[in-house]
Amino acid sequence: MKIILLGPPGVGKGTQAQKICRDYNAVQISTGDMLRNEIKGGTELGKKADEIIKAGKLVSDDIILGMIENKLFVKDKPVNYILDGFPRTIPQALGLDEMYAKYGEKLDLVLLLEAPENLIIDRLAARRSCKVCNQVYHLVNMPPKVPGLCDKCGGELFQREDDKPETIKNRLKVYTEQTEPLASYYREKGLLRTVDSTDSPEDVHARIKKIL
Ligand code: AP5
Repeated sequence: MKIILLGPPGVGKGTQAQKICRDYNAVQISTGDMLRNEIKGGTELGKKADEIIKAGKLVSDDIILGMIENKLFVKDKPVNYILDGFPRTIPQALGLDEMYAKYGEKLDLVLLLEAPENLIIDRLAARRSCKVCNQVYHLVNMPPKVPGLCDKCGGELFQREDDKPETIKNRLKVYTEQTEPLASYYREKGLLRTVDSTDSPEDVHARIKKIL
């Protein structure tokens, strides 16, 4: 199973990726989480990425493609995986196609999650993430059992820097300009399925399961 989850920031890609991985024995490959780990580790890449993410812009295609090639085809080589937050530009999609050709593999499916902008802004503003295991919560829709602490590992929950209102606006603009064209790209290849993501996480997951 090799699947891309496409959709605007905050639509629920990470939430659904975790549910699919749980039910289908797949691994979640999130370029956002990978970059945030670099920032946490204080690496050179992390220092560069920090400023870019805080501004709601995209990290360069070369860096992202290098990270993905290493993860998918050189280092970990997972068999079943969900790409969450990658690709995000046409050059990234072309780069991924080249990698599949080079390593003799292929993509199975692209799921485009859709929800109206007001819902997305609301979801992002109340998101909290675990500092340790990256588990995602929502203060109203999916609150942790103990306020401020992760149900899974007990780690401290925090609000992402890029979930501030000004940055959210920028991220949505960048999505429209640079990532939305990927829907046509994958539709033309016959790989795209859209998923109404306005309902509860469980209902959205049930829709995805029907497709899978
Ligand atoms: P990244 O971490 O990938 O962020 P994103 O794509 O903007 O997506 P989010 O993680 O914000 O949202 P999501 O769709 O996963 O929603 P979630 O499940 O958390 O990227 C961050 C930054 O890194 C980028 O801006 C860029 O700078 C850089 N970057 C990353 N990848 C890159 C790449 N390939 N190229 C270049 N730069 C890159 O849900 C959101 C909230 O809603 C949560 O609180 C959740 O609990 C709640 N929720 C989810 N589903 C539902 C539901 N159905 N009903 C109610 N609430 C829900």
